[in-house]
Amino acid sequence: MPILGRSLLDTRTLTRNDIDEIFLKADALAPLVNPARPEMRQAGLPMRQPVVCCLFFEPSTRTRMSFQMAAYRLGCQVLTMELSAGSSLSKGETLTDTVLNFAAMKPDILVVRYGNSRELDELLPTLDIPVINAGSGTMAHPTQGLLDAYTLRSEWETLKGKKVLIFGDVLHSRVARSGFDVLTKLGASIGVTGPEKMMPQGPQRDALASEFGLQFFESLDEGLPWADAVMGLRVQLERHEARELDLEFASDYHDRYGLNEKRMDMMRPGAVILHPGPINHGVEFAAGVVRDGRSRVLAQVTNGVTVRAALLDLILGLGIGGER
Ligand code: CP
Repeated sequence: MPILGRSLLDTRTLTRNDIDEIFLKADALAPLVNPARPEMRQAGLPMRQPVVCCLFFEPSTRTRMSFQMAAYRLGCQVLTMELSAGSSLSKGETLTDTVLNFAAMKPDILVVRYGNSRELDELLPTLDIPVINAGSGTMAHPTQGLLDAYTLRSEWETLKGKKVLIFGDVLHSRVARSGFDVLTKLGASIGVTGPEKMMPQGPQRDALASEFGLQFFESLDEGLPWADAVMGLRVQLERHEARELDLEFASDYHDRYGLNEKRMDMMRPGAVILHPGPINHGVEFAAGVVRDGRSRVLAQVTNGVTVRAALLDLILGLGIGGER
């Protein structure tokens, strides 16, 4: 089924062919995102400017700004509402009513980020305009899963046979869930490791292992020599019962699960480092990891604009960068 007019609420709705189509479109649009190629930016801007409406009910830097950047690069117009400040949410309006009212203004597409919310999970697929999930609670972050895979594909051409170690707060990570899905569809194997309290347990662990063939490592030190890419996850304190990142926790976590110079030496030659951001420095990563030559953390951010541009183009049928 063509991507035109569809919503993207979870990567589970994407086929392998869909992912290939998004990545080919991203390749075609990459010059549009790169300001060093201004002549390419001018190519084929649409006469009618579609309106992208971004609703962010949870904080965001990368996803929010990169959707806006992607939309502007495509010649779209953007409306953004963040959290409840300045909106009628602060007067008690529900999330459902807020989304319904924005949808009623008939933007061409909605981009929505929200915390765990069954009401929005149920509402969004029923809207009569396409919706892109910009991160929903602990469940899904489809565009992050796509941009992470696109970053690794840019590194290796293909993910087939590659091994990706995802470490840290797997239990609370929507990035991990979408990553498992996209990376395995593209042929990669996934390993995971993290503190017991931040790892899926029991039936949840069994279900993930069986669906995605996950390999569980006892420690980061055990997983590092196995992997072609290592992805740190943010400790999602806002989703933990103890919400304080005290110094004792940070230091203990970093000793056991932090990527540092010594542990980077345990990585395979040529292995690369990812993190979706935001990073707790001194917790998931030691100072200096992001700027290490093996880090692709900022390339992920650039690729986030490209992949989101590709999705907007395909869903809105803009045809910039050529039809496929
Ligand atoms: N990776 C990610 O979703 O970052 P933001 O929360 O800043 O959008």
